[in-house]
Amino acid sequence: MRKHIVAGNWKMNKTFGEADDLLNDIMTKLESTTLDANTQLIVCPPFPYLEMTSDYSDDSYFMVGAQNVSDQEVGAYTGEVSAAMLESLEIDYCIVGHSERRAYYHETNEIVARKVDQLLKHGLKPIVCCGEVLEEREANKQFEVVKQQITEGLFHLTPEQFGEIIVAYEPVWAIGTGKTATPEQAQEMHAFIRSLIAEKYGNEVAEETSILYGGSCKPSNAKELFANKDVDGGLIGGASLKADDFIGIATAF
Ligand code: 13P
Repeated sequence: MRKHIVAGNWKMNKTFGEADDLLNDIMTKLESTTLDANTQLIVCPPFPYLEMTSDYSDDSYFMVGAQNVSDQEVGAYTGEVSAAMLESLEIDYCIVGHSERRAYYHETNEIVARKVDQLLKHGLKPIVCCGEVLEEREANKQFEVVKQQITEGLFHLTPEQFGEIIVAYEPVWAIGTGKTATPEQAQEMHAFIRSLIAEKYGNEVAEETSILYGGSCKPSNAKELFANKDVDGGLIGGASLKADDFIGIATAF
């Protein structure tokens, strides 16, 4: 059975004290919550809070991820954080190719591919984002766009390497807008992504790949999104900044 994953992407939010408070709230809430045994929580805080967040991690259902990584190994790259550094902090996951990084920091599919390579080399699991912007959806180009992102970003991997990948479908028009994809739109795209993976790596790899949905996911819509056969969880932005909402989503399976 594929893992159910609920990952919180805090983006550039929270000061140190606020981050500590939120982690405390999440842990307190978790104490009185029964999560499905197959559910994995991942919290992806800003870089400066990775270690603090790791201190809360129990290495089983509550894990820690970074939001970004350098595509280079080591050296004179001011401001960058390498996969080796994340490995040395025992960070398990890292988001790559988020639409905000693609839009504001010019992260191309080629850069995504190099970041994925760095992460795999250092034993981290990449959470690789894909998704179309509104104009592409309106022009019915969403499948073409996502196919290109997946093909150019990931299909250089061996089947064994691909086994480490988590895919996150985040339609850009749904991110932070309050406009969620319908369960049908999510299922349709997730099934399409799985079919691409099956075509390239075979059914077994495709059936084992967790594909998350992201974009205005909240406790009130998580259940109907997660009820779909190919939706294995969520990558949560705004709602991951409140313990009640984050845990509310995690219990929606
Ligand atoms: P929102 O949940 O705030 O729409 O953000 C989704 C997202 O970008 C997660 O990576």
